[in-house]
Amino acid sequence: MCAQTRKQIAIAVFASGRGSNFQALCEAVKRGELQAKIECLVCNVSDAPALEIAKKYKIPVILVDHKKPKAMTRMQHESTILEKLQKYKIQWVVLAGYMRLLTPEFLQKFWDEKKKVFNVVNIHPSLLPAFPGVDAYQQAWAYGVKYTGATVHLVGAGLDDGPVLAQSPFSIEKCESLQEVIEIGLKIEHGLYPKTLNQLFTQKWEILGRRTVWKNKLGN
Ligand code: GRF
Repeated sequence: MCAQTRKQIAIAVFASGRGSNFQALCEAVKRGELQAKIECLVCNVSDAPALEIAKKYKIPVILVDHKKPKAMTRMQHESTILEKLQKYKIQWVVLAGYMRLLTPEFLQKFWDEKKKVFNVVNIHPSLLPAFPGVDAYQQAWAYGVKYTGATVHLVGAGLDDGPVLAQSPFSIEKCESLQEVIEIGLKIEHGLYPKTLNQLFTQKWEILGRRTVWKNKLGN
């Protein structure tokens, strides 16, 4: 199948806040650099700036605030999202600053039996396995490392622990503030995420142990 006729991969982007990675993905799709269709934005925070970005790019929104109008359990929250997602026939879930852990039950819905992975991908602002969890740029800055970076990885059952798809390191030795680290990091993320997703969707690959092995392009 040639690139022009291949069906676009249907993705749902999940974001909770600023949405700068979501915007980078929208732009990459628009420029034809990411062969995917962003079917919808899933958001769990009613006033997240990411919602405005969805409006700008005319992307449907599934907003399920887990706190409003009343607090939901994780299961209730996820089953509401899954119900609303049904009509989009999503192939991949793309996490972009989604600040909620997904339950094994949710991940199971995106299990790829052939590849033995969840079709769920995330970008994390550190060179994993260093600095998992929240505020990873801040963790790196506070630790005093000379290099940090960004990691795109498949989502596993634990916190930030799935197989690594791509990493991009950068020096923070000359940075004078955490803000500077974050600015450099986000710029790198905005290039790395669309590029890696495009590779994931257009190239053959397999996971050997924990290693991602990239093969030739689909159709070659
Ligand atoms: C990014 O640093 C991303 O790596 C992490 O959360 C942050 C989200 O930023 N998972 P934004 O909402 O995409 O601007």
